Amino acid sequence: KRIAIFASGSGSNAQKIMEHFKYSHDAEVALILSNNPDAYVLQRADNFEIPSHVFDKHAFYHTTEIVDLLKRLDIDMVVLAGFLWLIPQSLLRAFPNKIINIHPALLPKHGGKGMYGDRVHQAVLNAGDDEHGISIHFVNENFDEGEIIYQARFRVDPGDTLEVIKFNGQQLEHLHYPKVIENLLKKYN
Ligand code: GRF
Repeated sequence: KRIAIFASGSGSNAQKIMEHFKYSHDAEVALILSNNPDAYVLQRADNFEIPSHVFDKHAFYHTTEIVDLLKRLDIDMVVLAGFLWLIPQSLLRAFPNKIINIHPALLPKHGGKGMYGDRVHQAVLNAGDDEHGISIHFVNENFDEGEIIYQARFRVDPGDTLEVIKFNGQQLEHLHYPKVIENLLKKYN
């Protein structure tokens, strides 16, 4: 099975996924895609000798470039890992139920357009939530709204800072995302 990862930034989740599948016989990360030519995830792809592709808004929303590339490389599953653009209908239709995302909160709380990075954790603190966590979900035409596949949670203690809850969430993301991907791939023929 062949995985493509979309990421806009650092790519620490992409890193964990590349590590996880590096010696797997069942699946491999075949391509890293980014809308951001300066994204550190591209360096990480080079380190793993995994091909990468950078695209712009026009190509993504108004051409078949990306779907064609994913089909040409025989991609089975599309993984979003810190990718900030909405997925166009054409891509959703080309990979039905094969595109997943990770969000650093317990959806349906603290999701939607503009809710990413530190803003999510700040919202958790502002709301006084006593728990926080991560969600892995199928992608649909709206930000952070597809069916939830997996969630992991942790307690927020009084006095926890943004840095603390962010770190706790990242640890859970790195631990669970590769395994959830592996389990989903097992269900594919
Ligand atoms: C993660 O927190 C993920 O949940 C969110 O964006 C962040 C990406 O971090 N969608 P990284 O680039 O994988 O380090």
